[in-house]
Amino acid sequence: MMKKLRRIAMYGGSFNPIHDGHTAVAAAFVKKLKLDKLLLIPTAESPHKSLDEMVSPQHRFEMCRLAAKNIKKAEACDIELHRSGKSYTVDTLRELAELYPDSEFFLIMGADMFITLPEWKQPEEIFKLATLCTVPRSDEDFITLSEYGEKYKSMGAQVCILDMKKIDLSSTEVRRSVFEDKPISKMVCGDVERYIYANYLYMDKTTVNYDRFRRVIRARMGEKRYIHSCNVSDEAVRLAKKYGADEEKARLAGLLHDVTKETPHPEQLAFMEAHDVPLTALERKSPKLWHAISGSVFIRDVMDITDEDIINAVRYHTSGRENMSVLEKCIFIADFTSAERNYDDVEVIRSLANKSLEEAMRYGLAFSISDLALKNAAIDPNAIACYNEVVLTIDN
Ligand SMILES: [Fe+2]
Ligand SMILES: [Fe+2]
Repeated sequence: MMKKLRRIAMYGGSFNPIHDGHTAVAAAFVKKLKLDKLLLIPTAESPHKSLDEMVSPQHRFEMCRLAAKNIKKAEACDIELHRSGKSYTVDTLRELAELYPDSEFFLIMGADMFITLPEWKQPEEIFKLATLCTVPRSDEDFITLSEYGEKYKSMGAQVCILDMKKIDLSSTEVRRSVFEDKPISKMVCGDVERYIYANYLYMDKTTVNYDRFRRVIRARMGEKRYIHSCNVSDEAVRLAKKYGADEEKARLAGLLHDVTKETPHPEQLAFMEAHDVPLTALERKSPKLWHAISGSVFIRDVMDITDEDIINAVRYHTSGRENMSVLEKCIFIADFTSAERNYDDVEVIRSLANKSLEEAMRYGLAFSISDLALKNAAIDPNAIACYNEVVLTIDN
């Protein structure tokens, strides 16, 4: 028989999310089996897990991709995500055998899965296609698994039980920690941690926690914009106090107003399309207007913020609009006057903001509208409507 060219392992799971326990197992098998390739394969859907805790396959795949960067020979594989209906391991192994001819396959699975193997679709077929690999969770587990291993061997399987150092960690625990706003830096790699925060996965959406919100925006933007966001939040609270808007709403809207500002434009557009946001022709052609729109949709649909005033404050923070609420105006102005701002006329608008919101609005709008016009850029009709409104209000 010809010698197999490559040694490839399939490591499937729901990876909801992938954590350091998974990656330690993957790395240990890469070394032990001298693998040429290890494929992390998230399942499309897992029938035994409750659906509300399960994040989308795309999110789980993306986290596998990030985690794979830290494991030699590993990569994430979306083979099961493209298949419709329930995925069976035997089908995946067959597909891999076609994709990677002349390869020897290994199937890595958790101990809980290992003992249920006889109930899977066509177990004997799986035994022929791949060496079964697992790791015990405890010393007793090792004995149990070995017994199962012997049984599978008598059915024609090849088995590898790797008694590696135990890592006591589960995806459930990671999810619970996130939900309870506890740190997860010792459970998942930095990139996965950031991904979870940036996409607001597993979070408690029913409570307000500013540390959590700060973690979310920090994961989505650079240091500079993060500081700007915190400053806008503080400034918005100050203005809200002065002009009688809800301070907590101002704090939140200020913190989140630029939440999607550093999201790449194509990603923002795809996000708005996925969330059925109607865009005018002008909006579609003006990516600079997008972050206010996509940001308001992000806080509404991803973060589950339901307060219309907060959503509108984010939506209209760059353009303004007619009939703005006091909160909307506070966010609009705070974006101009936040502590780190140091453009030429910042003191002028700061002192106007201490006299009247409308006068500060007029100044800010005149500034941004003329700036756009001088750059031959399109001007959002909301900005013009807002400008006309404040001009007429002040004149009367
Ligand atoms: Fe902005
Ligand atoms: Fe801003």
